[in-house]
Amino acid sequence: MISDPNLGNSGSAGRPAAGGGPSTGEPAVNAIEVEHIVKKYGDFTAVDDVSFYVKEEEIFGLLGPNGAGKSTLIRMMTTLIPITSGKARIVGFDVQKDPDDVRRAIGVIPQALTSDIDLTVEENLNIYAKLYDVSAQKRKAAVDELLELVDLTKWRDAQTKTLSGGMRRRLEIARGLVHSPRIFFLDEPTTGLDPVSRVAVWEMLTNIKAHRKLTILITTHYMDEADRLCDRIAIVDHGKLVALDTPAALKASVPGSNVIEAHFDHPTADWEQRLHALTGVTSVQHEGAGMYRILTSDGSKATTELVEMAVRAGVGVKSLSVQNTTLDDVFVHYTGRQLRDELVKSYSFVMPPRPGMQP
Ligand SMILES: Nc1ncnc2c1ncn2[C@@H]1O[C@H](COP(=O)(O)OP(=O)(O)OP(=O)(O)O)[C@@H](O)[C@H]1O
Ligand SMILES: [Mg+2]
Repeated sequence: MISDPNLGNSGSAGRPAAGGGPSTGEPAVNAIEVEHIVKKYGDFTAVDDVSFYVKEEEIFGLLGPNGAGKSTLIRMMTTLIPITSGKARIVGFDVQKDPDDVRRAIGVIPQALTSDIDLTVEENLNIYAKLYDVSAQKRKAAVDELLELVDLTKWRDAQTKTLSGGMRRRLEIARGLVHSPRIFFLDEPTTGLDPVSRVAVWEMLTNIKAHRKLTILITTHYMDEADRLCDRIAIVDHGKLVALDTPAALKASVPGSNVIEAHFDHPTADWEQRLHALTGVTSVQHEGAGMYRILTSDGSKATTELVEMAVRAGVGVKSLSVQNTTLDDVFVHYTGRQLRDELVKSYSFVMPPRPGMQP
């Protein structure tokens, strides 16, 4: 299932010396190494025997639905919670044996916003810089540079409570970088942001990467985000790693290169079987209410046949789209479920019963 041949490579070859960095001629070193890591809460296994490595200067994504174990993985890698079993090394430092060295090497943006809303933008950055012992003379230059990088220079004296959600995220990202960490962990940095602010955060992260020598580990449940930003993606589901590779290789690993989404008016009872018979079709998913998602190796031929078949059968086609395979299809392929459905389910809200209401 796991498509990265190096995933299980837990040997010591290529492991960096503590605190060491790459130099000319040396083999590429791993910024993060996670080996058979497990987290149990009582009888519940939140992270179940996960192994992966992240190369220096890579942008690595953990993609999975709510409750997959993404934050738990980050918390273990960043020394915030104990590891039940297995190992994690950050730039060569063992998370359990050398937590202080790990903390000095990393910047962490947790899932919840944590900047102080009663301070100004600049004060929030300065407090962190002082906490991390950045000298006074370096502090000013670091704060100026970071404000510029996250496009908040003209807001430096604004109270944090006056910022929009996207601007506050950008402030938190700047704050996580004041001590020039080598590894940057971001837990769902764009959840809750509008599409424009999300793109702004992506651009900013790409910009930061271009200016600094930085390895980034990001968690997300947005497939487009993982696709756009990450060099490699690990798909996690129910605490397990189900696939790991580059976005392109993950998409190529799904049989069928095109996805047809079609909405039919009163399809026949055997419609799903008939769709299966079209050219190159490798899977058909009925999403309810006449909506079908069809994977095929020949999008154009299958679409023509589909329309002809619908005309012959007197079935109306309300909408039709043909696209290349997405990470959504990859998720379905490896887990049997749709990431979108999982998110909708997790966010659905059930009204609490009101007094006098019948169950
Ligand atoms: N302190 C805890 N005690 C018990 N169970 C926990 C604890 N923290 C997390 N869990 C459970 O572990 C599982 C993984 O949670 P985690 O927060 O890592 O998921 P996630 O992938 O980050 O999800 P989300 O996208 O919602 O942030 C969930 O089922 C969660 O309920
Ligand atoms: Mg989380």
